[in-house]
Amino acid sequence: MKVIEEASWLRHELAAFRHERIALVPTMGCLHEGHISLIHQAKKLADVVVVSIYVNPLQFGANEDLAHYPRPFAEDARRCQAEGVNFLFHPTKLYDDAGPAVTLRVAALADGLCGAHRSGHFDGVATVVNLLLNIVQPDLAVFGEKDWQQLTIIRRMVHDLCLPVDVVAAPIAREADGLAMSSRNRYLSTTQRQQATVLNQVLCQMHAQCQHGEQQTGVLIDAGRCLLHQHGLDAEYLEVRDENTLQAITTIGQQPARAFIAARLGNTRLIDTTILRESAPCN
Ligand code: PAF
Repeated sequence: MKVIEEASWLRHELAAFRHERIALVPTMGCLHEGHISLIHQAKKLADVVVVSIYVNPLQFGANEDLAHYPRPFAEDARRCQAEGVNFLFHPTKLYDDAGPAVTLRVAALADGLCGAHRSGHFDGVATVVNLLLNIVQPDLAVFGEKDWQQLTIIRRMVHDLCLPVDVVAAPIAREADGLAMSSRNRYLSTTQRQQATVLNQVLCQMHAQCQHGEQQTGVLIDAGRCLLHQHGLDAEYLEVRDENTLQAITTIGQQPARAFIAARLGNTRLIDTTILRESAPCN
C-alpha cells in the first residue's frame, strides 16, 4: 500500500492503472467495521482500491467537533494495509487556507433531515466529494447507507454534473446490539452507549408496525418518540420520507418509504435509518 499526501502525485501513480477498474472509498478516517465493509465492497468490484482519509473542514459547522474529530492515522493506515488497500490518500489539506473560492451548493435535497440541523454541511460534503472524484477519477465510489441523505445527494450530484462514476451503496454495519457503527460512537459514555441502542429499536418497531399494516406515518413516529422518551431521549428528527426524493410521506403506499432518526446523547449526535417499504415492483 502506498500512502500519498499530494493530489498530483496520486494522479501520477494512478496513471499506470487506468486500464483497470479503480474504486474510491472516501472517509474521514477513524475507521471502524462499517468502513471496512465499504473497502470489502470496493475490492469485490474493482482491481485497485483507493481509500481517502480527509477530515473536511467545509462540512463542519462552527459549533461542531472539527477540532476534536478523532484522527488515529497510524491505526487507520494499519487497517487499510491489512485489508489490501492499494493507495491511501491522506492529504494534509485540499484547499487554500482561505478555503476554496468555488464550491457546490445543494438545493432542496439538503433542506430537511440532517441538512436542517447542520447548515451548509451538505454543500461541504458535495464540494469535497466532487474534488476527490476529480482527483482520483475512479470507475466507482462506495458510500455507506447510514448517511442516506448524503448518499442521495451524491447520487444526484453525479447525475446533475454528469460525473463518469458509479455510486455504490453499502449496507449499514451494526454492532451486535443493533447500534449503527459510527466514528462518533467512541465519544459515548457507558450509559450513553446503552441508551444509544434505542435508535435502532425505534426503527425496528416502526418497521414491525408497518409490516402489520400501519400506514399512517404519524402513528409510527408518535410510537417511536414514545419509546425514545422511555429511554430518556428526544429525537432531533424522526421522519418517514421517500428514499429517492426525500419528500415527506404521511401515508405509506407505493413509494419507497424510509425512516430516518437523529438524536443527541450529550454532545454526540447519532443518526440511523431503515427501509420501511420497498418501492412497488414494476410490471
Ligand atoms: O461520510 C463521510 O465520511 C464524509 O462525509 C465524506 C463522504 C468522506 C466526505 O467528507
